[in-house]
Amino acid sequence: MPSVIEFRNVWHSYDGEHFVLEDISFSVGPGEMTVILGGSGSGKSTILRLTLGLIRPDEGEILIQGQEITSLTEQELLKVRRKIGIVFQSGALFDSLSVYENVAYRLREEGWPEDRIEEEVMRQLAFIDFKGDVHALPGELSGGMRRAVAIARAMVGGPEILLFDEPTAGLDPPTARTLCELAAKYRDLQGVSSIFVTHRMDDVRFLSSILYTRTAAGEIVALHREDDAFSLINTRFLILRHHRIYFSGTEEQLRRSEDPYVREFIGALEEIEEQEVFEELMLE
Ligand SMILES: Nc1ncnc2c1ncn2[C@@H]1O[C@H](COP(=O)(O)OP(=O)(O)OP(=O)(O)O)[C@@H](O)[C@H]1O
Ligand SMILES: [Mg+2]
Repeated sequence: MPSVIEFRNVWHSYDGEHFVLEDISFSVGPGEMTVILGGSGSGKSTILRLTLGLIRPDEGEILIQGQEITSLTEQELLKVRRKIGIVFQSGALFDSLSVYENVAYRLREEGWPEDRIEEEVMRQLAFIDFKGDVHALPGELSGGMRRAVAIARAMVGGPEILLFDEPTAGLDPPTARTLCELAAKYRDLQGVSSIFVTHRMDDVRFLSSILYTRTAAGEIVALHREDDAFSLINTRFLILRHHRIYFSGTEEQLRRSEDPYVREFIGALEEIEEQEVFEELMLE
């Protein structure tokens, strides 16, 4: 299958002296998610900036839906960015615009007709299960709902690619969980290709243990790891360490790895109590 996002031997330095990414290669296929883990400063956000064409690599190729983007003009890059929805940590919404207008924003910029805007905004709000008043201001919503609306805003117009940069940082556990559920639903039900950057083990645990499917009747069901039919082949995990990809594999490979460093990650995966060990690893 052709990849939707592909990095081929990408090197990047900000100062022309020290590489923050060295020889990074990975690809994300249609409907696949790549979860990127790594300590602070390991280059996770840099990978997202490169994917958006906000910065250019020193070496290597980056392909978005088969198109090499590292030598495109700014004008051409704008077109590429339209295919990509972004959810950042702050999940910023415009405070002075209603929920509806926040979600509609990108479509208005792109000059969509009003009736299609309404249809698309309501479709996205239904997908995030928004049941409140669409004319409410973000300040009137719960923190979790604000984050969900930020995802709806990123997804409006149906971009085929979604980038998450530590979207759960600073959220309470139930809200973080809601956000991960949504990310998994876009992955499993909408066929969106995504990169999910996090350093929260709760996110990893959640994203690697749930798979949404639709029944023949169209009902959405969630499968969990203990269910027989569970097989998470659409999600891969990358661990960045010392500027390189230290581990790349499926949930199963992550779990079975005998590498001591990876095992410490898995320890942290399996034991909530080991969160502190993990945080120490992240500071390495
Ligand atoms: N604009 C910049 N100019 C110079 N150096 C930068 C710039 N942005 C990032 N860096 C450096 O590049 C390295 C990688 O940064 P990056 O933001 O990709 O890390 P990260 O993995 O996202 O970290 P965090 O978990 O803290 O968000 C860091 O050492 C950082 O200091
Ligand atoms: Mg970052």
